[in-house]
Amino acid sequence: MKASDRSLQPIREPENWAPDSWRRHEAIQQPQYEDEAALEQAVDQLSVRPPLVTSWEVLALKRMVGEAQEGRRFMLQGGDCAESFADCTSAVITNRLKVLLQMSLVLVHGLRLPVLRVGRFAGQYAKPRSTDTETRDGLTLPSYRGDIINSPDFTADARRADPQRLLRAHSHSAMTMNFVRALVDGGFADLHHPEYWDLAWVDHSPLASEYRNMVAGISDSLRFMETLAGESLESFSRVDFYTSHEALLLHYEQAQTRRVPRQWGWFNLGTHFPWIGMRTAALDGAHVEYFRGIRNPVAVKVGPGMQRDHLLRLIDVLNPQDEPGRLTLIHRMGAAQVADKLPPLLDAVRADGRRVLWICDPMHGNTENTSNGYKTRRFANVAGELEQAFDIHAAAGTRLGGVHLELTGEDVTECMGGARGLVEADLDRAYKSMVDPRLNYEQSLELAMLIVRKYGGRRPD
Ligand code: PEP
Ligand code: CO
Repeated sequence: MKASDRSLQPIREPENWAPDSWRRHEAIQQPQYEDEAALEQAVDQLSVRPPLVTSWEVLALKRMVGEAQEGRRFMLQGGDCAESFADCTSAVITNRLKVLLQMSLVLVHGLRLPVLRVGRFAGQYAKPRSTDTETRDGLTLPSYRGDIINSPDFTADARRADPQRLLRAHSHSAMTMNFVRALVDGGFADLHHPEYWDLAWVDHSPLASEYRNMVAGISDSLRFMETLAGESLESFSRVDFYTSHEALLLHYEQAQTRRVPRQWGWFNLGTHFPWIGMRTAALDGAHVEYFRGIRNPVAVKVGPGMQRDHLLRLIDVLNPQDEPGRLTLIHRMGAAQVADKLPPLLDAVRADGRRVLWICDPMHGNTENTSNGYKTRRFANVAGELEQAFDIHAAAGTRLGGVHLELTGEDVTECMGGARGLVEADLDRAYKSMVDPRLNYEQSLELAMLIVRKYGGRRPD
């Protein structure tokens, strides 16, 4: 079917699908629960708990992803590699929101485009692992798979997959969501007071004056517009945040999948924007089966092993009717491979006339291990992959419409490099991640500034 014909069809419910039809397919990266009955009981309890998001928010986000596909918005998606229950604290949540807001301010100002803010939070609790078990000093235990499943401590009890954790993850997501909504509604993001966003780092960063100039520029523009309008512009006192996570643990996702009054179809109401990880994108696998049936905007990670035909078939299954806003592809090739691996995929998708939003995750293809035993990423590789990605899209006639980052608002030392030139020896000081290394506060803002420098003059039509 030609792409132009696809979107003429009325969008309808997929056939032979139910929130639990994924169970007929192979589900990889799932834990082994010892007590099946306890698991089903937790799923039942979860399926009557209140949802975390609403269908109209989900559809509003889908419209905005559609606008990003047309080059009218830029997506900033970011947050922890994995949230933890222990980090569900007011300080961690506030700082994460602050860094995302400040980055988006940099991007809005520099790109002259509205930014779509999507947090990797309020549900980012399940992790794919490269091995099912971990061995230390001759003792082998199940791998840590995220707080929704087990605990990172290295004891048999901690590593047991506990179904009650599904309910705890939901509660922690609800607490996070509640606080984020309150902060956003309470004027936390008020553009009239960008000075509130100025955290201590600015005082000793080499980018301080650039950042301050930008904040002053925003205040001036706002005053100018208010003078023109003759009134205070209330809409500048709030900005929206959407949530996303890797929808990996399918029992949890199933229980959050609901019908709502006056809408057809099924919504995942545990998050606005779920994504399929690189390891779970098999065409006949359980994850793709689950995702094809929900109405949310969805994303898929695209790694260096992705074949052209596989990608086109995934697009067919996940967006058979070429619906605007439905599908985002997050490429994560690594700085060394992006130049080889990305162009054929861009060409294939474009030649087939598929409507997608391309965004770049410059984190997951650039992970390495140091000699002192840390998992790290070099800022230069992260920035390098992103810069190459902008050029590759420009050469292919496609558009890079966003970034996907692992970051925190805390002053951690997990990634090397950046303006302060963190080196291997610095990692010991404040390495807190249980999983992948995150950009710290300064490195995140520096990256936002680099994006603006790279892309600012190249605003799409
Ligand atoms: C992640 O986003 O944390 C992740 C595991 O990514 P990927 O599926 O791209 O490896
Ligand atoms: Co990660």
